[in-house]
Amino acid sequence: MSTDNLFLRASNLTKRYGVDGQDQHPVTVLTDVSIQIDSGQTVAITGASGSGKSTLLHLLAGLDGPDAGSVIIDGLSMFDLDEAQRCLVRNQKLGFIYQSHHLLKEFNALENVALPLRVAGLKISQAQTAAYSMLTSVGLADRAKHYPSQLSGGERQRVAIARALVHLPRYVLADEPTGNLDEVTADEVSDLLFELSNKHDIALVLVTHNRDLANRASRQLTLSNGLLTGSNGLLSS
Ligand SMILES: Nc1ncnc2c1ncn2[C@@H]1O[C@H](COP(=O)(O)OP(=O)(O)OP(=O)(O)O)[C@@H](O)[C@H]1O
Ligand SMILES: [Mg+2]
Repeated sequence: MSTDNLFLRASNLTKRYGVDGQDQHPVTVLTDVSIQIDSGQTVAITGASGSGKSTLLHLLAGLDGPDAGSVIIDGLSMFDLDEAQRCLVRNQKLGFIYQSHHLLKEFNALENVALPLRVAGLKISQAQTAAYSMLTSVGLADRAKHYPSQLSGGERQRVAIARALVHLPRYVLADEPTGNLDEVTADEVSDLLFELSNKHDIALVLVTHNRDLANRASRQLTLSNGLLTGSNGLLSS
């Protein structure tokens, strides 16, 4: 496969809410936002609450559609695909980490981590072997049979990281992955995220309010008034 188009590129994304005539107060959240994420890059996106960070991540993952613009993932134009095809691209290429873990409560940690592999069609035994290995990488081998309700907040977030990385996607999109954790646990969770992304050559797009965390990324961007810009001169590419 050609390596020419191995990047995630969003071009001229515009997103408005409340333009369907029902809402008296339409808001334009993103205006003409463009960003390219290359293989293995780490990119931090900061911005005030309500500035559109989650909206942007959802668009990058094709979880929501823009009013204008495109998202191309390794040569595949997400909004020209149908929903089933988008799901396939997400399953093959992306991992998503939410601020609160979004684990399935009726599945134990191992089953949660195995999910992307099951969706990809792996047999249970193969999926669970790989899931156990990833759970071991996040230090939770001994919690494999625990259900989300039996795990601490930091442990749940580590399971969520294992689930986002288990299928070795090319891109992980993380929405304030440490936002609900105390400082020490947040540091541990972000160490893991950077360490594992680096080990598996996964590009990481990280939304965070935490300046220290943002500074660990190779590029820092800020969303403000619908525009995405490099912040404090640190933009490296
Ligand atoms: N489904 C929706 N319908 C209408 N407005 C929405 C919807 N989702 C988000 N918004 C609005 O879009 C703006 C951006 O929301 P978004 O969740 O992307 O912000 P954010 O930067 O992630 O904020 P936070 O840091 O608080 O998570 C907000 O003003 C919000 O009220
Ligand atoms: Mg958000």
